[in-house]
Amino acid sequence: MHIDRYERAWLTAVGIALGAFAAAMAAGFILFGIRLPSPVARINPNTFAGTPYANPGIKSLGGGRYEVFMTAKMWSFDAGRDSGPVGVPPRVKIPRGSEVTFYVTSLDVDHGFYIEGHAINLEVIPGQVARATVTFMQAGEFNIICNQYCGVGHQVMYGSVVVQ
Ligand code: CUA
Repeated sequence: MHIDRYERAWLTAVGIALGAFAAAMAAGFILFGIRLPSPVARINPNTFAGTPYANPGIKSLGGGRYEVFMTAKMWSFDAGRDSGPVGVPPRVKIPRGSEVTFYVTSLDVDHGFYIEGHAINLEVIPGQVARATVTFMQAGEFNIICNQYCGVGHQVMYGSVVVQ
């Protein structure tokens, strides 16, 4: 079968590119331990009240480690009383250098959970708890944004992490 010279060159380039992408994924997985954020628990939104995730809040584990339990609901995040008054976008205050594990779940529809300037971007799905850990090395206020379209109030759904 005859393959045109340019066609052959193009196929070779595509083959090399695919090989490089596959090698990068394998290296990320094996050498750098990169994993997709995975659900830690499944919950029934109807019996949510009885679960450990039903009390949003910031919990210190000592040694600069924190756990933040959050819920997402049209059109706000809730991180409990420690993050400000009810009905106001939450501000999660933590000291600089803290390692924070977020547990986020939705009480209604799909939401997003993105933290500005940090490698954290979760899909928040009703019925499951998403978890991600991030270390905040830089002082400042970083927005938490819902980046999944969730209805007419989507653009006002936010909060922030205040690193002091
Ligand atoms: Cu919640 Cu967009």
